[in-house]
Amino acid sequence: MKSDKEKILITGALGQIGTELTNRLVEIHGAENVVASGLDRWNKNLTSAGFYERMDVTNTQLVRQVIKDYEITTVYHLASLLSGTSEKQPLFAWRLNLEPLLHFCEMAKEGLIQKIFWPSSIAVFGKGIPKENVGQDVVLNPTTVYGISKMAGEKWCEYYHDHFGVDIRSIRYPGLISWKTPAGGGTTDYAVEIFYEAIEEGKYTSFISKNTAMPMLYMDDAINATLKLMNAPKNELTVHSSYNLGGMSFTPAALAAEIKKEIPSFEIDYQPDFRQQIADSWPASIDDSVAKKDWGLQYDFDIAAMTHDMLKNLKLKLG
Ligand code: SER
Repeated sequence: MKSDKEKILITGALGQIGTELTNRLVEIHGAENVVASGLDRWNKNLTSAGFYERMDVTNTQLVRQVIKDYEITTVYHLASLLSGTSEKQPLFAWRLNLEPLLHFCEMAKEGLIQKIFWPSSIAVFGKGIPKENVGQDVVLNPTTVYGISKMAGEKWCEYYHDHFGVDIRSIRYPGLISWKTPAGGGTTDYAVEIFYEAIEEGKYTSFISKNTAMPMLYMDDAINATLKLMNAPKNELTVHSSYNLGGMSFTPAALAAEIKKEIPSFEIDYQPDFRQQIADSWPASIDDSVAKKDWGLQYDFDIAAMTHDMLKNLKLKLG
């Protein structure tokens, strides 16, 4: 018999979102109720979870065993290949980004787990969609491997909810900016790299062009939003694919100008690579009014507050 206590498994727990979300979940639920998992060895400096399972999330047998052994009730399934890397390994990206999600949905259908969080992305929108203030219900037209996998995943989330009552919740994250753990292989990652290089080199060469605006979000706001969505009463949720989340919208030039306010000698130049084409297919800004209405989405950080906090914390971290 399972106890009533929430027992949480996080996949991708050593990744950019995973490290910070795991530590917040430990603060809320206690280390003994949080199991972190990932491909790498346990790094106690990165995660305060009470338990760590080194596992390949595509190994369905092993994942099922972990769910049973720890009597997991809630899964934050974060393991995923981001947009840039997915273009280089399309078949593996499809397998990693989709199959474990379906496996978790199946386990929820069987009643083995009660609740799932799964991240989608602004990559689902794609070509031919208006750039500004993109709404919740526009037709999705992704042209990247990553976007295709996220769009398919969203449809599966909705399917398992509608047909089997599976409680799976999702957010279309914009580019995520954080100082604790670097991202890897994303198109929006320039907005993280720029801070490291501003501090270490005083200059940065952006792989995204000067005036390309994309939606971005500071990690603190992303974690708060995720927890808020997961705590919302089920009957108040109207979107069972994935909620739009806009955060802020800025260009590399605007971010550089913001950094220059704190590091006046900072210089930026631009050498767009293959990720420019990905960025060109994504929205510049997002309408997230449905998330605001359904579960009270709100933000604490704008571009100035985020830049200040990033520089302050990274300077300390980098010594
Ligand atoms: N940050 C992601 C990426 O660039 C988008 O979800 O791949």
